[in-house]
Amino acid sequence: MASASLFKPSPATVLDKSNWVKGQTLRQAPVSVVRFSAGAPSTLTVRASSYADELVKTAKTVASPGRGILAMDESNATCGKRLASIGLENTEANRQAYRTLLVSAPGLGNYISGAILFEETLYQSTVDGKKIVDLLVEQGIVPGIKVDKGLVPLAGSNDESWCQGLDGLASRSAAYYQQGARFAKWRTVVSIPNGPSALAVKEAAWGLARYAAISQDNGLVPIVEPEILLDGEHGIDKTFEVAQKVWAEVFFYLAENNVLFEGILLKPSMVTPGADCKERATPEEVASYTLSLLQRRIPPAVPGIMFLSGGQSEVEATLNLNAMNQSPNPWHVSFSYARALQNTCLKTWGGRPENVKAAQEALLLRASANSLAQLGKYTGEGESEEAKKGMFVKGYVY
Ligand code: 13P
Repeated sequence: MASASLFKPSPATVLDKSNWVKGQTLRQAPVSVVRFSAGAPSTLTVRASSYADELVKTAKTVASPGRGILAMDESNATCGKRLASIGLENTEANRQAYRTLLVSAPGLGNYISGAILFEETLYQSTVDGKKIVDLLVEQGIVPGIKVDKGLVPLAGSNDESWCQGLDGLASRSAAYYQQGARFAKWRTVVSIPNGPSALAVKEAAWGLARYAAISQDNGLVPIVEPEILLDGEHGIDKTFEVAQKVWAEVFFYLAENNVLFEGILLKPSMVTPGADCKERATPEEVASYTLSLLQRRIPPAVPGIMFLSGGQSEVEATLNLNAMNQSPNPWHVSFSYARALQNTCLKTWGGRPENVKAAQEALLLRASANSLAQLGKYTGEGESEEAKKGMFVKGYVY
């Protein structure tokens, strides 16, 4: 592994005695003191991934002004549920037809900078035989890949879960890079009604950090996604408290695993009240809580914050994003929505070839609304009733 040009360890400034306050006794701990010094290897020297420069470039491209991510990485089981909602069978051909519709929407790249794919789609062609990855790249959209293997019960916890997928991740990631993927996604969840227990938070944070390090080693920008589920009756202050704990731990382990912060993207939940809380929050309140959380926990070296929609309605997700972009932020604050980009589009299509064009227009409408929201210029005018319907599902799996 070559060391990258970006972050070469700099020769250290070693204090000599004259730097000390006069008269102060210079005491040294008997244990070894680690210092940088020119030439000599230091225990603090960490070689960056040979992909460091490329990772930074990829992350910046995805976090480009007025654009965000189209999450279309539903596992086959979840995609089956989507197709069932419009009366279609969960066959490979139907999944291919739907995903062809999404990626071939004309002008999608004006609003979408990255698309997260499920493994099947990364290796798939459109119904006309063109590689989906190629179609994305032609539109200026970076292909990404879901690499986690889903949630399973966490033994020893309060009925919580952990995310599988580290075994074999390095070789899978290398193969995904060969296939054209340039970023990755790993979604783990934290449940507020179930605690969250210290064990579940630690497991989530550690898993994300190992995944992030492995992704960067193989040229993929990791999207770090500890989703704090909407489930629960708790108020917004409780969500804020849990989110602070979760992100503190995530960044602690990201740093411990020598992850290059300039080469990651985050996918947080917005700070909102629980889905069953009677007191609702306005977009301005959601923005104020969420931005306070980010300011307290996320270093400005991170290029992009790409929110998930988590069951909010299409309009709600766009309004909240818009509210967060009313003044400049140290990071690109944008979207990585699945449900909040696809819902009206899927319903408009209904599995009928004659509706493909209208469905693509519905997708472009949502994508352009969120593009405006990324720039803080969305007005919320002219939205359909369908787009205002919430999509929360208890214990949502992806
Ligand atoms: P939603 O925007 O539907 O919550 O999707 C979350 C996700 O992780 C998709 O990649």
